[in-house]
Parts: sequence; C-alpha cells; structure tokens
Amino acid sequence: MTNSSKNVAELEIEDIEGVGPTTARKMKEAGISSVLELATVVADELAADLGGSKETAATFIMAAQKLLRESGVLDNEFTTADIELEKRKSLLRCSTGAKALDELLLGGIETQAITEFYGEFGSGKSQICHTLCVTAQQPVEEAGLGAGVILIDTEGTFRPERVDQIARARGLNPEEVLKRVAICKAYNSSHLELIVKSMGKYIDDFKAKMIIIDSIISLHRAEFAGRGTLADRQQRLNGIMHKLVRIAVIYNVAIIVTNQVQATPDTFFGDPTKPAGGNVIGHASTYRVYLRKAGNDRIAKIIDSPYHPYSDVRFTVNEKGVDDIEADAPKKRSAKEKDDD
Ligand SMILES: Nc1ncnc2c1ncn2[C@@H]1O[C@H](COP(=O)(O)OP(=O)(O)OP(=O)(O)O)[C@@H](O)[C@H]1O
Ligand SMILES: [Mg+2]
Repeated sequence: MTNSSKNVAELEIEDIEGVGPTTARKMKEAGISSVLELATVVADELAADLGGSKETAATFIMAAQKLLRESGVLDNEFTTADIELEKRKSLLRCSTGAKALDELLLGGIETQAITEFYGEFGSGKSQICHTLCVTAQQPVEEAGLGAGVILIDTEGTFRPERVDQIARARGLNPEEVLKRVAICKAYNSSHLELIVKSMGKYIDDFKAKMIIIDSIISLHRAEFAGRGTLADRQQRLNGIMHKLVRIAVIYNVAIIVTNQVQATPDTFFGDPTKPAGGNVIGHASTYRVYLRKAGNDRIAKIIDSPYHPYSDVRFTVNEKGVDDIEADAPKKRSAKEKDDD
C-alpha cells in the first residue's frame, strides 16, 4: 500500500480515491479538512454539502475509511477475537470518582465507547458530568485520561463553581482544572448537530479525550413535540448518535451522554420509567446506566450491556462530586466492626 507509510496527519483529502481539487475544496468549505473528519461524516450531510448524490458521498466516506484502515488508524473490517481482546485490554478507562460506580463499569468509563446515564431529575446525571470534568484530567496512572474535557451543556446546568469545589475537595488546583474544560452551550437542536459535526476539530483544538453531552435529548425533545414530528426527531437524533459512535472509535475518546426518562403509564410491574429517545439512543450507546435516588444515596444499574453482569451499586454525591458511601462513614464502620469482634 502506498499510503501505509504515511502518517495520519500527513494524509490529505486529495489522497482519497476519486476526490479531485474541486471536491476537496467543497469539503474544506464545509469544514471537513482531514481524512479523519471525512471518515466520521454522515452521508446525507455530505451529499448536501457537495450538492451531489448520497451514493457518491457514501463512496467518499468509505474511501476515507479505507485509507484510514490502510494506514492502521482503523481496524480492518475483520479481525480475530484474540486481537479484539488485546485491543480491549489497551482501552483507557476513566474513574467516575466513586469506586463502586467504577466497579459497575468494570474499571471506569471506557474510551472508544458511548456511556449513557439516564434517570429522573436529581438522580445525579449532571453531578457525574461535573465530577468527570475533574477525574478525566488526572494522569492515566491515577485512573484518569490525562487530557482535556469537552462539555456540551444543553440545559444550562453546568456550573464552573461546582467543578472548582470538586477539584479542591480532591486536592487539585482548581484553576488548572477549569482551564482544561472546554464548555459549549448548545441553544437549539441544529446548533447541537453542528457542534457534533465539527467535533473532530474541537477534539484536536482542546486535546480532549472525553466528550460529555448533558443532555443528548432535551433540545430535540422540546423542539419536536408533536407525534407528527417524531420520525423526523428520531432521524436527526440517529444522525448525531451515529456520528458520535464513529468519533469515539476514530479519535479514541470517551463519550458520555445523559438522557431523561419518560413515564410509561402502561407498566404495572417494576419501574414505570424508561429512557427517552426510543431505540435510537439505546442502540448507539455502548453502555447504559440507569440512575435512581435512594434517600441521600444514588443507585446505579447497568442495562443491556454486552458483557457486564446485571448488578447495581450505591454511591453518593458530596463536595467531592460523585463519591463512595463508605468514605463518608469509616468511623462508624470500624466501631461496628470492633463491636462484632
Ligand atoms: N455540592 C453538593 N453537595 C452534595 N450534593 C449535591 C451538591 N450539588 C448537588 N448535589 C445533589 O445533586 C442533586 C442534583 O443532581 P443532578 O443535578 O446531577 O441531577 P440530574 O440527574 O442532572 O437532574 P436533571 O434531570 O434535572 O438534570 C441535588 O438534588 C443534590 O442532591
Ligand atoms: Mg442535569
């Protein structure tokens, strides 16, 4: 392969089969400036940008992915299970701040995956996001990703003061931590779609290894309210989620999305709530975690995972952000243990 000797950064859009100078210029005008970015684009959008057919657009995207495979950035379409296992061992995992929650996720939040947290209001979704802004910056040896964080706030609930508090409580320099959290407030669904479309550039600009979207659904849910527009909403959410799946793999980043719940009044047994957004979000998410309040504590349960045993764990929210319950009460327990002796 002539391109296998090229470094990814050296790959030009013009290196792609069938892309001439005019197409390359149109792509650049549409904000697609690298092969990596082209490989993560959705065919419909690219067709609109180029003013061509969806088929041609899909051919370019596949050619970009082929080029990445040849240069070793993307895996070949087929690998063997032992190679897959080896690759999984090299995934980075980021601590959530609570050991119990990390154990539920078999070691923390993974790169190359989308982790979805859903639950009702006050269940701790945004608290997890604020805590991850701090823990993800810790070095890899200290269960972080050693990199910056991008947080997209769609609900106006991000509070830098809270990140400051969590960093301080964890013995870190809050100014340093705050500097490495890139915040973007998305004000409508099209804006969110645009941000996700340009994510590759932002990842490079902010040297990020974690992308948080709090929440993935609120803007689309508010704007596409009636039944008649549901199919349209689902299609657009689907576009975002598929783009995110590709970004996670190609850029080796951890993606966290939060989701709301919707009541299912026809449920007679069990919990009458399920995640909003239907199958679109669930199918694209690698891991789904359901959060519930239990007094002052929170319960997290992993749903539909390919290999996690179904179990749930408890954690709490305090000045350190997300934290283990035990950490609050070591004295009580040791006293009790003494009594037991
Ligand atoms: N500094 C703090 N110390 C202790 N607990 C806190 C602190 N800040 C927030 N909390 C707890 O977190 C709760 C809010 O949780 P959070 O904002 O994560 O909810 P959410 O799941 O994002 O809800 P929504 O769906 O409304 O966005 C508060 O009700 C409070 O119990
Ligand atoms: Mg929230």
